[in-house]
Amino acid sequence: MEKSKKNHKKLYIVLAVLLVVAALVFIRSGLPYLQRHYHIVHVNEKEAVAAKKMELGDRKVLTVYFTRVGNSGFEDDVDAVASASLMEENGKLIGNSGLLAQMANNCTGGDLYAITTEKKYPSSYNDTVSESAKENKQDGQLELAGELPDTSKYDTIIVVYPVWWGTIPKAVSSFFQQVDLQSKTIYVIATHGGSGVANSKNDLQKVTNGTVEEPVLEVYDKDVTKALPEVTEWIENLFKL
Ligand SMILES: Cc1cc2nc3c(=O)[nH]c(=O)nc-3n(C[C@H](O)[C@H](O)[C@H](O)COP(=O)(O)O)c2cc1C
Repeated sequence: MEKSKKNHKKLYIVLAVLLVVAALVFIRSGLPYLQRHYHIVHVNEKEAVAAKKMELGDRKVLTVYFTRVGNSGFEDDVDAVASASLMEENGKLIGNSGLLAQMANNCTGGDLYAITTEKKYPSSYNDTVSESAKENKQDGQLELAGELPDTSKYDTIIVVYPVWWGTIPKAVSSFFQQVDLQSKTIYVIATHGGSGVANSKNDLQKVTNGTVEEPVLEVYDKDVTKALPEVTEWIENLFKL
């Protein structure tokens, strides 16, 4: 009888420990995941990107970005939007990469270009994840929409993208296979949901034949709205200001 009581006590302790571990895992990974998928972040766009233009001499900088917003069919379906994407007060949706690209572009005073695809991704986050997995298994490039920028006018390209499946979204690799990269230096800002830059920089390096330079700036998706000081410091460091 005494032994059985002891065994029960041990079991309760083990269960309690398991419960605490499960709670910690949920707080560390589950909550950010839920937030990313189901919670829309409100942001004051103008304030978030209000950088002071830096003096870069005769450097010509193009900031290029790809984001789910503008490439998904969710403009009419805002409630279905999962947040890794942001919403300004007036209801306009802004993707994380778009916000980071505006920050960088306001610092450099260069030009801004959004990579857009002919096809639209689903409004559902999970369906987009599946679609991207399918794309990664297929050869060939994606059809891009709109006119490509004349990259011969620039010496530096800052590319901002969300890490998708540990690599660059197919739209980004398709873009870099279609533009002139002669004598260009490419810098990367990668936004992610926890994996960091993963293989994306190395994969971009292959696509661009080795023109991507360190350091890469990684921005966790939850931190994007407050990333301006980090972006500013990173750009100052790139151009040795
Ligand atoms: C298709 C897809 C795949 C993703 N894969 C990853 C990943 O491998 N690692 C990661 O940390 N986050 C991943 N994420 C999360 C995004 O990188 C992250 O939320 C990013 O900030 C979204 O930027 P955006 O609003 O510009 O699209 C993925 C998101 C999507 C939609």
